[in-house]
Amino acid sequence: MKGIILAGGAGSRLFPLTLVASKQLQPVYDKPMVYYPLTTLIEGGIRELCLISTPQDLPRFRQLLGDGSAWGLSIDYREQAKPEGIAQAFLIAESFIGKDAVTLILGDNVFYGGDGFYKAFADFKGGATIFGYHVNDPERYGVVEFDGEGQAISIEEKPKQPKSNYAVPGLYIYDNSVVTITRNLKPSARGELEITDVNVEYMRRRQLHVHRLSRGFAWLDAGTSSSLHEASAYVQTIEKRAGIKIGCPEEAAFRRGFLSLDRLDALTTKIPKCEYREYLIEVVAEARRLSR
Ligand code: TTP
Repeated sequence: MKGIILAGGAGSRLFPLTLVASKQLQPVYDKPMVYYPLTTLIEGGIRELCLISTPQDLPRFRQLLGDGSAWGLSIDYREQAKPEGIAQAFLIAESFIGKDAVTLILGDNVFYGGDGFYKAFADFKGGATIFGYHVNDPERYGVVEFDGEGQAISIEEKPKQPKSNYAVPGLYIYDNSVVTITRNLKPSARGELEITDVNVEYMRRRQLHVHRLSRGFAWLDAGTSSSLHEASAYVQTIEKRAGIKIGCPEEAAFRRGFLSLDRLDALTTKIPKCEYREYLIEVVAEARRLSR
């Protein structure tokens, strides 16, 4: 399974923050936003990654994440010249995807909690797996409607009159036919290759699985000033209460076995003195205690 992080777009709703740095490089509490979706993919067991962003922002992402080898990953980079739709990612990254299945995550989406969520990656066998999450403002998103048996029966992009409160979060798992399906899409009225049209096609083929996320699960998108602030407040609250970090790629890579304890230790000593370093020192110390 390959992984794509889509981190382009205009970020106009975060003006003026996004005048000089892209949305996905803004802080969500104590880390750059892109760390959160990156960590989600690592937690899902994906180590071959491609990050897509705008020509002007791509160098900054390279500077931040490098080729991924320090974390036991490989990270490729591709440009999206214009924001012509989320599904365009599959055409831009076609050579990266090759013959594999692929998970796409949006660079401004934060997911937290629930083992059932990660099971969806392990259980993926083909077709498409997307998620449904109960929100109070479904009209801002793709909206999925279920029948009495819990089967998805319709998906609509930003409907004026939503048929349910279930929004589709920015994380999509597809088999390799997603590339051909996207190639055959026509741009929508707003000139974009719509991810909802990809999902509708899988639904038409009866190959769409919609995994309803449980009530305790957190899905946040950080695309507006207030949702960015709320995401930061949420992360701070959980981190402070539980003494853990959300969106820490080093820790996730270690727990997934992509990075040995010795390599994590060596990497931690290179981080300047800060809370992030203190945290990783604790992770290393605890792992050493447990391995004795
Ligand atoms: P949006 O939040 O819908 O768009 P945006 O980031 O351009 O922001 P704004 O509406 O404030 O101008 O995009 C959702 C995510 O998908 C976000 O992380 C950016 C990304 N994206 C791309 O990278 N390329 C695209 O063509 C589109 C449509 C979105």
